[in-house]
Amino acid sequence: PRVVILAGGLSHERDVSLRSGRRVAEALRGAGVDVSVHDVDSDLVPALTQLRPDLVWPVLHGASGEDGSVRDVVQLLGLRLLGTGPRASRVAWSKPIAKTVAARAGLTTPDFVTLPQSLFRELGANRVLDAIVSRLGLPLVVKPSRGGSALGVNLVTHADELPRAMVDCFSYSDTALVERAAIGTEVAVSVVDTGDGPVALPAVEIVTEGPYDYDARYNPGRVEYFAPARLSESLTAAVGAVAVAAHEALGLERISRTDLIVGEDGTVWFLEVNVAPGMTETSLLPQAAEAAGHNLGDLYRSLVEASLR
Ligand code: DAL
Ligand code: MG
Repeated sequence: PRVVILAGGLSHERDVSLRSGRRVAEALRGAGVDVSVHDVDSDLVPALTQLRPDLVWPVLHGASGEDGSVRDVVQLLGLRLLGTGPRASRVAWSKPIAKTVAARAGLTTPDFVTLPQSLFRELGANRVLDAIVSRLGLPLVVKPSRGGSALGVNLVTHADELPRAMVDCFSYSDTALVERAAIGTEVAVSVVDTGDGPVALPAVEIVTEGPYDYDARYNPGRVEYFAPARLSESLTAAVGAVAVAAHEALGLERISRTDLIVGEDGTVWFLEVNVAPGMTETSLLPQAAEAAGHNLGDLYRSLVEASLR
């Protein structure tokens, strides 16, 4: 089969996606798959029409890759897609909507409010921020309601840090998600489905001195990863079950990553899911796959084969 990986694009995570796409392509090639990487631009439709690949794998982080729009184009062209379809992508891409769906499925997620920039301006920043702090308390995390790679994400410990966090957030998204900060161990659980249903890979634990921000994520040596995470047997099972439950509740397909916090009392806090998890050399899913004993090329080829059946 001929596989086209979509990468790049015009999102804030363009560089990350190009790195992810190259890594996936190299691994697939090593496993004998005929694969090319297409940097997504306005020529996407003519390019796909001409290439007519057997399968399209969007390794495209950020807006058009994860919000469903490029996935819509792939399906409208009658091409097969590896991964989550456009509708479920659109839901997962919105952190507040994904949290609401996860909560309805019985998962625990930090309390939150969403705040459109327009409302923020209309009601006056101070009044809104006071109301948020009195409702949710401190510390808080401010995130763009749609976004990735921790861009525009800030932990707010003191109320006077909030205005700055909002400004940073609104430079990435017109709506902010403000949530109560879950305190505990940061873990990510990737889920893969090679045809027999979704399976959780070993949890990866993230330990950083500072924030797990964009620089920490993509510069080797800034983060200490533990794969598998240093969790008890029962918590290991619990985080795996939460990731599979999130994958299923949100209608995700083939590959996903759920980001979680494990509190000291054993609460597993759902933060978000990713339909195009990072696949770079420092990313979490490849580390999880290797910790499970998978050869990356073989695993990715199994995902390709399952998507063609
Ligand atoms: N948004 C980045 C690529 C991730 O979730 O890994
Ligand atoms: Mg994300």
